[in-house]
Amino acid sequence: MASLKTLVPVLVLAFVLFSFCEAKDILVGGSENAWKIPNNSSDSLNQWARKYRFRVGDFLILKYDSKVDSVLQVTKENYESCNTSKPINEYKDGNTKVELDESGPFYFISGADGHCQKGQKLQVVVMSEKHYDHDNPPVEPPTPAAAPVPSKSSTSQAQAKKGGCSLASASLLGVAFTFV
Ligand SMILES: *[C@@H]1O[C@H](CO)[C@@H](O)[C@H](O)[C@H]1NC(C)=O
Ligand SMILES: *[C@@H]1O[C@H](CO)[C@@H](O)[C@H](O)[C@H]1NC(C)=O
Ligand SMILES: *[C@@H]1O[C@H](CO)[C@@H](O)[C@H](O)[C@H]1NC(C)=O
Repeated sequence: MASLKTLVPVLVLAFVLFSFCEAKDILVGGSENAWKIPNNSSDSLNQWARKYRFRVGDFLILKYDSKVDSVLQVTKENYESCNTSKPINEYKDGNTKVELDESGPFYFISGADGHCQKGQKLQVVVMSEKHYDHDNPPVEPPTPAAAPVPSKSSTSQAQAKKGGCSLASASLLGVAFTFV
């Protein structure tokens, strides 16, 4: 029989895993006022972004002085050319929260004059959720006529990891309650 001593760590671990699976608020640049012209590496916000896995439903948080700066969500073309004239969305409240509501790339540039040219820009790529569901259909006997399943092999590691996330926490909880 399992004691509380063994049960508690398992529950804590399951809880931690669950919280990893949830949508997150992500502070851009990892600190307040990171939305500014980078010091000397023109790509520094994107270097930060590369360390993250952005998922559908996550929120980007950008903090800046609303008197002197703003955030524009733009197309890829306008991101590359620092064209601020026709943004998809414009945020200038100083405490901007942007929902990453679909998979694929999002492009942001500063709305302040000349800032984008000096490197104040950010690109994030949001991982697909649909593909994950597609790659893990409900358990069903395969149709006999079905061809070999080449689509499975296209599952990217990232998607597999995301799926493993909720699965791992769910099975851990299952283990925990078996012991109760
Ligand atoms: C930018 O420069 C300031 C002062 O020169 C320094 O304190 C800060 O750490 C630098 N930030 C980065 C991201 O290099
Ligand atoms: C610029 O970057 C280099 C290398 O990352 C660093 O050593 C240097 O301190 C930086 N300069 C400033 C002013 O932040
Ligand atoms: C900026 O983008 C707008 C619309 O996307 C376009 O009409 C305009 O010509 C562009 N300006 C420059 C300087 O490229």
